[in-house]
Amino acid sequence: MEDKILENIAVRYGTPLYVYDTDKIISQYGILRDSLPEEFGILYSMKANPLLGMCQLFRKLGSGIEVASSGELYTALAAGFAPDSIVFTSPGKNCEELEYAIETGICSINVESVEEAALIDELAGQKGRKVNISIRINPDFDVAGSNIKMTGVPTQFGIDRIETEAALEFIGSLSNIKIVGIHIYTGTQALNAHNIILSMEQIIKLSLELSENCSLELKFLNLGGGFGVPYFKDDSSLDMDAFKNDFSLMWEGYREKLSGTKVFVESGRFLMAEAGTYLTRILYKKECKGRRYLVCDGGSNQHASSAFLGRYIRNNFPMHILNKTQNEEQVNVAGPLCTPTDIIGQNVLLPEAVPGDILAIDKSGAYGSTQSPGLFLSHPLAAEVQYCKGKTYILRERWGREDFIKGQKELDEFFNTYGWEIYG
Ligand SMILES: Cc1ncc(COP(=O)(O)O)c(C=O)c1O
Repeated sequence: MEDKILENIAVRYGTPLYVYDTDKIISQYGILRDSLPEEFGILYSMKANPLLGMCQLFRKLGSGIEVASSGELYTALAAGFAPDSIVFTSPGKNCEELEYAIETGICSINVESVEEAALIDELAGQKGRKVNISIRINPDFDVAGSNIKMTGVPTQFGIDRIETEAALEFIGSLSNIKIVGIHIYTGTQALNAHNIILSMEQIIKLSLELSENCSLELKFLNLGGGFGVPYFKDDSSLDMDAFKNDFSLMWEGYREKLSGTKVFVESGRFLMAEAGTYLTRILYKKECKGRRYLVCDGGSNQHASSAFLGRYIRNNFPMHILNKTQNEEQVNVAGPLCTPTDIIGQNVLLPEAVPGDILAIDKSGAYGSTQSPGLFLSHPLAAEVQYCKGKTYILRERWGREDFIKGQKELDEFFNTYGWEIYG
């Protein structure tokens, strides 16, 4: 999005602020849609950006949705997703969440252990329901080059490959459950099309082997995804043309065998990351022991991944100062928090800026607000705004101070009832 547009939005809605470019989201969805066989489904992984309005956009685009908690399931339903377009994946679903998913009648609960399957069976039995589940497997392979591996190594996700046949036999004997699918999610932020295809082909082969050996009638096969975006200097873009071409060649070998199976991929980052910009205003500029700092009104409380949280490599998100290009200087960009870790740009080269200027962090549409410790130090959650063809629409209002005590109870009331004397 152009700087002028971003600046106008910042003036109108204040900072800090997330802005999402609808054209870019639609274009990313189109690229992914177009690179897959027509019969495939796409599931939006709403963990990347769980805004109600964003979910509604993906519903309009024709996507299904992958949820990871009862909060996300509630939001997906509120966004108008039909239950049969929702799948639920999480290694730690509790009873309340499972009961909610069972009552709602979603497409598939992706089961990550035999213990979870037994619990679903019991809960479904109490409700007189038969529940569709898929088995999430941790196979012996991963997706090469992925930044975060979820398979091929010990993780809390899925049923270990070595135990899969025994698990399928046990789960198959449960009377209130029907195994309808297989789910494997190998990792995230993969930037090599060939590696994604290799891992997806391994998933297909394993699923065919299991369905044959264990007499599974596969209605669904969820190949995961891990489609990445280039965030950093040396990252190259995922070549979606190559993906389309090579995937369709690979798929030709399996299409027939899987003709009765609905195949899905899931994606959050690829669909959302590049559509979002985080805007924060520079409050102060200062020097300290030879280092120059820009102190901004937003920081790691709202954009933790820009502050390297949860990342091994401390490389800076792409960022720039709105409407400025001259006289680059090396600065550290700090947020307003009282912790030295609140650095959202480290030794970054930026055009000379002054207080009042606005810093834009690009590629911030996925895992921005949603992955940040928003309550830390009680700065209001940022507003989030959608930009559509010259128009803006607020998706989440900025929090007010009063929001921090919402739902809390005053301890004074307790002591008014019981008296301070209980402490002698
Ligand atoms: C099971 C599962 N599905 C989908 C995703 C979304 O991944 P991405 O945002 O990289 O597309 C994740 C992310 O961790 C995940 O764990």
